[in-house]
Amino acid sequence: MNQLINVKPAVEAAEYRYARGWHCLGEAKDYRDGQLHTLNIFGTRLLAFADEQGAISILDAYCPHMGADLSQGELVNGKVVCPFHHWAFDASGRCAEIPYCKRIPPKAKTRKWLTCEENNLLFVWNNPEGKPPAEGVEIPHLPEIDSDEWDHDWHLDLMMIDTNPRELVDNLVDAQHFGPVHGTPTKYFRNTFKEHIGTQLFMGDSERLGGDLIADSAYYGPATHFTRMRAEYDGLLVESILLNCHVPVGPNQFELRFGVLVKKIPGWTEEQNKQLALDYVNQNRTSFYQDVDIWSHKRRVDMPVLAEGDGPIYQLREWYQQFFMDEADVPAMHKELREFIVVDNR
Ligand code: FES
Ligand SMILES: [Fe+2]
Repeated sequence: MNQLINVKPAVEAAEYRYARGWHCLGEAKDYRDGQLHTLNIFGTRLLAFADEQGAISILDAYCPHMGADLSQGELVNGKVVCPFHHWAFDASGRCAEIPYCKRIPPKAKTRKWLTCEENNLLFVWNNPEGKPPAEGVEIPHLPEIDSDEWDHDWHLDLMMIDTNPRELVDNLVDAQHFGPVHGTPTKYFRNTFKEHIGTQLFMGDSERLGGDLIADSAYYGPATHFTRMRAEYDGLLVESILLNCHVPVGPNQFELRFGVLVKKIPGWTEEQNKQLALDYVNQNRTSFYQDVDIWSHKRRVDMPVLAEGDGPIYQLREWYQQFFMDEADVPAMHKELREFIVVDNR
């Protein structure tokens, strides 16, 4: 964690429902270190670990025996050994061994969460209804991650933000903050919504990056936002992919991860490209933290007063709301493509 920001809670904790969807937990390789990882997310505690083959599992952390925190235990031969009475749980969450008893009670198991790995990142599936993802609800594979033309380091930053994640998701449609916050006045701005995907196309002039900027981005579900960006930077055309993803800790707190993949400049040495990636990542971090600073200090407004030129904030929130209701109750309109061209000054 490199930042801790405090603001007043805006959403009551009681009965809070966490969004249905895939949530990113950072780079998968970080979990393959033979350790148990405590995850304080979705208002509870989970643990993540990898077996000897590298397969990552996520389980409820509270032991079904007497409630000890399994993430404080030990990983022994691919099994999680509880610190309290040494019951051992396998990757499926079943108790495989009790040191003082041969018969394993059938209820001696802890919940296993669905996970996936995509683009070198680990994701966990949350669904209060307990169902797996519907067809097509997935994190897209980025072909750039397989290409030698791209640097494969996400340069991930992790921060804790003390507010409700809706504040972050609102940003997808906020057409008018680019000039004031980022010094990048908007030339073109469009949003679309369909099913679990919400998109933004932004074109602007970037003072910070020094030229034209095109950002084509999409949320895949409630918490994973990828942006393909082309920007002039130091007289070069730089292509990059930004990752902006979060996982709720509680109703008014989330872990935010920000990362950048950069396309290498052909003909440059590895060293030069590494340096470009680092400089460019830093520039983008600066931009991102300009947003973070605003989110961290603002308060939640359910009924904002809007003016012409503002993005489709009410429509975005309708779209976002689908992740907080049973799938059977999601209004049919979310199946149709809805498009909003907010600014067109090209
Ligand atoms: S509480 Fe885990 S083994 Fe007893
Ligand atoms: Fe922004």
